[in-house]
Amino acid sequence: MEKFYGKVGLISAVLLLIWTGLVCAETPNLAPRKIEIKRGYTAEAAKCIECHAEKTPGIIEDWKLGKMGHSGVSCYDCHVVEKDSPMAGQCSGLKGGKLFISPMVSSKTCERCHPTEVAEFQKSAHADLARKAIYDETKAGGKLVALQLVHEGAGFLGTEKGSAINEASRKSGCIVCHGSEVEVGPDSKPINSTWPAGVGTKYPDGSVGTCTVCHTRHQFSVAEARKPEACASCHLGPDHPDIEIYLESKHGQRYLTEGEEWEWDSAPGAWQPGDYNAPTCAVCHMSGIGELETTHNVNERLKWDLMHKRSELRSGIHGDAAKGDKRMRAVCINCHSTSHTDNVRAMLDNSVALYNTYWDGAVKMKKELADKGLLKKDAWRDGFQELMYYLWHHCGRRARQGSAMNGPDYAHWHGFFQVFQVYKDMQDIYEYRIKNNKIEELSTVMSTGPI
Ligand code: HEC
Ligand code: HEC
Ligand code: HEC
Ligand code: HEC
Ligand code: HEC
Ligand code: HEC
Ligand code: HEC
Ligand code: HEC
Repeated sequence: MEKFYGKVGLISAVLLLIWTGLVCAETPNLAPRKIEIKRGYTAEAAKCIECHAEKTPGIIEDWKLGKMGHSGVSCYDCHVVEKDSPMAGQCSGLKGGKLFISPMVSSKTCERCHPTEVAEFQKSAHADLARKAIYDETKAGGKLVALQLVHEGAGFLGTEKGSAINEASRKSGCIVCHGSEVEVGPDSKPINSTWPAGVGTKYPDGSVGTCTVCHTRHQFSVAEARKPEACASCHLGPDHPDIEIYLESKHGQRYLTEGEEWEWDSAPGAWQPGDYNAPTCAVCHMSGIGELETTHNVNERLKWDLMHKRSELRSGIHGDAAKGDKRMRAVCINCHSTSHTDNVRAMLDNSVALYNTYWDGAVKMKKELADKGLLKKDAWRDGFQELMYYLWHHCGRRARQGSAMNGPDYAHWHGFFQVFQVYKDMQDIYEYRIKNNKIEELSTVMSTGPI
């Protein structure tokens, strides 16, 4: 059996390489050297490797361990750019020569050889949406940009908008997960801490997407991306504790006890139950399983929007609720019965409805307070509004995502239990304001309170 797969692997590698050559022929300057299965680089490509083996040995050693390194996809294929690219520069080893390179490598480079993965990725929230969530001043009335620059960046203490200090919190936090708009200096080098950055990064040539957030450079391993750790660097913490929920779930229990023995390296599409006994994040959201094909569009298997203020059925750029529901069920039934799956899915629908009941109540109270002029302009000094943020962004998300991914402690104790507490405190503040027709003098909410 192993031999059989070995052969299939070899044959597909050869086919892929031939096809790769065809796809890449459209961009003549950047076409990889004529790839052969045997090692053999053009003189120019070999020079990068030789010199960098001395200057940056960590990169070469890592690259050598990956499948692309084995197939002879080299520094040259990914880092050489055309002379007129806005990212074109020359490293010390190339100064004065004809070749131009960039340390920035976006999904556009990968697209030359992996067009399907990149097209799927571009449709997902991991691309433009992720970056726009933190850059778009029109989104939510620019409130999030205000959060980053005015509040967290100490704009309210007088730091100048756009200054390095003012941007420090955005740069060290938000962009590392969400992505940045890369700025370049006169020598085409990235500046202002806008690179390296997260998943939805926009590069100076207009291209979008950092593929290395899940398969890190320079191994670009599929096995790595299949493990839950690949998602954990971003999907964690008080506002979306997906890794914590997963590790608490029965699926996580299996992963933690048996994961080391699972077969992580199967060929794409051929990674199926048996190679693993319980799903990881990738199995439910991305990998081919049963009748489902692998996808790099993470919204394809989702029914609900569990991150925004009110949970709605997915539609438009956020996906398709009916198809998403069907596909997610198609994952579960590889290992569970239909009645098991029906029960668990109905539980999610009910949790969403419960959360929405709280949210709708909060919106109603807020509207009445707003109509009566009983809200402070600065929401972060107003107990009612601060609690409303936690209701949605922290405990409300935990309740919904805990329910969706089978983590009862997050669904309940970090979730609905805190949802009702926060809600009751909001009711108290609301009643006080209505009764006295005034806002209490000091915010009754400690900002570290109900996280
Ligand atoms: C399959 C494509 C690919 C290959 C092959 C490749 N790189 Fe990279 N490299 C990347 C990507 C992607 C990044 C991250 C770029 C980003 O975030 O914009 C990167 C980043 C870098 C960086 C800057 C980041 C850092 O940590 O300093 C250097 C330097 C680098 N690569 C050198 C090399 C060298 C030398 C080789 C040859 C052994 C090589 N690369 C091969 C894709 C590749
Ligand atoms: C004679 C040595 C030499 C050769 C040949 C060479 N490089 Fe470099 N390269 C370097 C050195 C030294 C650095 C600087 C590392 C640092 O920033 O400290 C560098 C930096 C880089 C960087 C990072 C640039 C940045 O601004 O972060 C990339 C990417 C890179 N080289 C790619 C290549 C590629 C691709 C080739 C072949 C086409 C190549 N290099 C050939 C020595 C060489
Ligand atoms: C010049 C063509 C080329 C470019 C450019 C390229 N790849 Fe690849 N890639 C390949 C080939 C060929 C293979 C198959 C290697 C094998 O299976 O032996 C591969 C395989 C892979 C795999 C599977 C590795 C595994 O462990 O099975 C990943 C992941 C991957 N590439 C990601 C990327 C990313 C990310 C980029 C852009 C930064 C990129 N590739 C750019 C040709 C390319
Ligand atoms: C640790 C990584 C990480 C950091 C840091 C981070 N986010 Fe997020 N953010 C995420 C993830 C993951 C999601 C998806 C949440 C979900 O599905 O519940 C998300 C979702 C969002 C959303 C909702 C998505 C949308 O398109 O409307 C917004 C808005 C957002 N984040 C803004 C920010 C801002 C602003 C900052 C900095 C003040 C920030 N994030 C910091 C990882 C992060
Ligand atoms: C959110 C995490 C994530 C991101 C971002 C990501 N990948 Fe993947 N990728 C995966 C996972 C998981 C698999 C394994 C799927 C499976 O089990 O077969 C994979 C598999 C692959 C493969 C192997 C062939 C296949 O389709 O299974 C290639 C090639 C690849 N990715 C390229 C890319 C490229 C190019 C990008 C950037 C556009 C990218 N990946 C971004 C998680 C990611
Ligand atoms: C570098 C950070 C990062 C990594 C790593 C990452 N994600 Fe995400 N993910 C995000 C951000 C940011 C969002 C929110 C995007 C938005 O809507 O603005 C997100 C959104 C999502 C969504 C919701 C998609 C939608 O359409 O609303 C899913 C599902 C998801 N990620 C799954 C995964 C999985 C599975 C992995 C690992 C295989 C992973 N992510 C790895 C940052 C990341
Ligand atoms: C057993 C399958 C399963 C596993 C394992 C799993 N998820 Fe999920 N995930 C789901 C389901 C089901 C939903 C809700 C889908 C729906 O809307 O119908 C969901 C929702 C999400 C969302 C919420 C998207 C939104 O609307 O805000 C994110 C983000 C996410 N998962 C990321 C992850 C990450 C990261 C991991 C691993 C740490 C993971 N998931 C593990 C099944 C799974
Ligand atoms: C690769 C197989 C596999 C897939 C796919 C899978 N599960 Fe599981 N699941 C398991 C295993 C194994 C257990 C542990 C059973 C036990 O506790 O005895 C489990 C346990 C559970 C449990 C805990 C309750 C129980 O049965 O004891 C829930 C809930 C659950 N799965 C829901 C889902 C949902 C929903 C999906 C699809 C989104 C899914 N699973 C997909 C293998 C899988």
